[in-house]
Formats: sequence, structure tokens, C-alpha cells
Amino acid sequence: MEKLVIEGGIPLTGTIRIHGSKNAALPILAACILVDGKHTVDNVPDLLDIKVMIEILNAIGCKANHQDGSVILDTSSIYSHHIPEDLMKQMRSSIFMMGPLLARFGQVQVYQPGGCAIGERKIDLHLKGLKSLGATIEETNNTIICRAKKLIGGNIHLDFPSVGATENILMAAVLAEGETTIHQAAKEPEIVDLQNFLNALGAKITGAGTDTIHIVGVKQLTPCQYRIIPDRIVAGTLMIATAVTGGNVELTSTCPQHLESLIHVLKKADVQITLKNDIINITSIGRPKSLDRIVTSPYPAFPTDLQSQIMVLLSLSDGITTIKEKIFEQRFKHVDELKKMGADIQVNNNIAYVRGVPRLYGASVKATDLRAGAALVVAGLAGKGTTIIEHIHHIDRGYVNIESIFNQLGANITRCVESPVSR
Ligand code: EPZ
Repeated sequence: MEKLVIEGGIPLTGTIRIHGSKNAALPILAACILVDGKHTVDNVPDLLDIKVMIEILNAIGCKANHQDGSVILDTSSIYSHHIPEDLMKQMRSSIFMMGPLLARFGQVQVYQPGGCAIGERKIDLHLKGLKSLGATIEETNNTIICRAKKLIGGNIHLDFPSVGATENILMAAVLAEGETTIHQAAKEPEIVDLQNFLNALGAKITGAGTDTIHIVGVKQLTPCQYRIIPDRIVAGTLMIATAVTGGNVELTSTCPQHLESLIHVLKKADVQITLKNDIINITSIGRPKSLDRIVTSPYPAFPTDLQSQIMVLLSLSDGITTIKEKIFEQRFKHVDELKKMGADIQVNNNIAYVRGVPRLYGASVKATDLRAGAALVVAGLAGKGTTIIEHIHHIDRGYVNIESIFNQLGANITRCVESPVSR
């Protein structure tokens, strides 16, 4: 079992490039199967989730490999529309295969991806959307079979701006007959990146980034080469880590406009942020100020994927802040671990009351999910003494060698492999 050992209290300094976005790359790799041929997708991060997506693509007959930051993917030899259950269980985002396989082959077999540490994570809106395009859905136990001789465009009203449902419906509608409009669509930058990729293939989509997306179905698409946007959640994690260590860091290859809600919050907490093109400079000038409240909501509001990290900053602030988690039912699992490091946090349902303390202290803690794990790394960097983090496979799903990212900025993090006997 691997773990991270962090010597805390070192201000982060220096410059670092932000890698490509996991949450943009996953649906875009799935979308490649909409058309026969060779695709090149650039700026794809070398992450656990990407490895699983490539395994799924190869399991249905694609020839996909990842080299030097690009995925080269040939979709002309697909022979199966059935995603292996064991691979679906490894990664929820395998559900992104549903829309493209249905659109291309008229049928797809997947499995309920099931919940994860942060919540129930239903897919009812995905299925409802595909049904509105004329698909039949057969659900037995855990198996879901979608069929459609022909997908027909139509009006789809999402009950909630789900990121995944918007992406699946978008990919299915590209080859549907006629026009589709998705109302109350999710507006995340990853949706805009997916629209831009699909349009580069020859699709006709407008409106991504707003709550109404319009798709004119096309008969034909052509493979292309495409570059993925930078990862705004990785950038946000580094910005918060700089602020809690009293550091001064420059992030390059970012999209500052994707981080407006975080930049607003950090400035209110008295962190200095300057922007220049794709560069963000962060300078911490002392103890962060507490805020009235933070509420996680769909983009462009404050992202749920930065909730645990900003909680670390607020647990070191000069007062009390409430954090309301409105997206996922169980996304406060990091609280008990932060309390082991000296944080003062009370939770009542989906609200956390964070009372700032002067200092956090190193401790042995466990990562319970991807972003909770990232928050423990941030807390360890700020904390006095040594922090040991276990279950770091969660973190590897979303950060490419997190220890080397921070060590490039002067941190002291070691990844240790614990031999089974020593446990
Ligand atoms: C995407 O998940 C991201 N994952 C998540 O990032 C992110 O937290 C989430 O969007 C919200 O921003 C990827 O892009 C791969 P949703 P997704 O559908 O698509 C409920 C990370 O840390 N819902 O917008 O699964 C659902 O249960 C990950 O990188 C339904 O009820 O999010 C949840 O409470 C974690 N029915 C809420 O909506 C549905 O059919 C938001 O889910 C779909 C969703």
C-alpha cells in the first residue's frame, strides 16, 4: 500500500504548468467512438481514470494508447457495444460510453455505476434524456440495455443541470435525426470543451456554457486532432495550497475565467491574486480572513470539487465560516480527518461550521475520496510536523504524481510503498 509523507510548514514558491483536465478528457475520449477512424487528443493527463477509460475503449475493440501527453485512438475496429461490468465499477465516468455507442450502433449495454464515497450518484437524468431521443431502456438488476433504431431530435428539459447527463445527451444528439434542444443544461467549462471537440468533428452545436444547448443532427463526422483545456480543479487546489502555506506561486497554462468564483473567494479572504493571460500569480500575505459563507452549486458558482480544499483554508482563518454542500449528499468525509489535525469543524447535515484555528498539526489520516485526499495534502503542507496520508489511490485518480507537483514548488512530500509484511 502506498502512502504520502508530508513535512509541513514550508511556503510554496516557484512556477508550475497546469496539466490537462480529467473531467474534460473523459467525455471527449468517449465521444471519439461517434466516428470511425484515427483521433489524436492532446494534453491528456496521465491519471488512473484515463488509464481505465483507455482500457474500456480497448475492451470494445478500439486501438487506444497514451504517449507523451496525447491519446492516439483508432475507433474503426469496434466490435462490442457492451462495457465490461468490472471496468464500469472502477470508474463512474464509464457511463459516458452510453450516448456515443447508442448513437453510433443503435444499442449499448452498461451497468449501474452505483454510488461512491460522496453520494448516491443516480443516472436517471441520463436515461430520461436518451428516452426523449427515442431510445428504449431495459433495466434488469444492475444491467441497462439501451436501444434505438434511429435517434430523433427533440426538446429535453433537465430537472437539474447535471454535468454527466448534459454530456451524454449532447453526444447522442449529434447523430440524431433533426434538432435537439437541452434546457437547464449544465454550463461547466468541460461541457464547452466537449461542444468544441464535437464541432471539430463536424457536429453542429451551439449554446454550450449557457443553460440552453442546441444541436442540429448531422449524418457524418470526421476524426480530428484536439487539445484538452487545463484542469481548473488542479489549478484551484494549488492556489489554495499556496495561500495556506504563506507562499508565492505562479501557475501557467491556466484558464483564469474558469476560476472566477474561487478567485473571488480568495481575494475576500485576503489572498493576493494577479492574472496575466493564461498565468495566475498567488501571494499569501498573512492569516486568511474568514468569510460569511460558501455554497457549492453548479457552474459558475463555487465548485463542489474545491469544497474540501477551501475548508482547509477556512479552518486556518481568523473567524467562523459556514460551508453548505448542495451538490453531493456525503461530501464532508474529510472533516473527521481534518479534526485529527486540529481543525475545529462542526457538521449539521449538509452544512459545516468552520471555526478558524491558528495552526494545524501533522497527523496520520486517510483519504476517503479524490478531493478529500487533495484537501489532506493541502492541510499537511500547512501543518506543523509530519502528516501521513493513506489510501492515496483516490488522489491518483485526479492529480498526476501530486508529490512531484508540490515538490517542484519547494514542498517536502515522499511517496512510500509499505510492504504488506510491515503492516
Ligand atoms: C461531474 O460529475 C464531475 N465528474 C464531478 O467531479 C463533479 O463533482 C460533478 O460533475 C459536479 O460538478 C466528471 O466530470 C467526470 P452531476 P457528475 O451529474 O457528472 C445528481 C471530481 O472530483 N444526479 O452534475 O456525476 C447527482 O447524484 C468529480 O473530479 C441525479 O440525481 O455530476 C449529484 O448529486 C467528483 N441524477 C448531482 O446530480 C442524474 O442522472 C450532480 O451530479 C445525474 C446526476
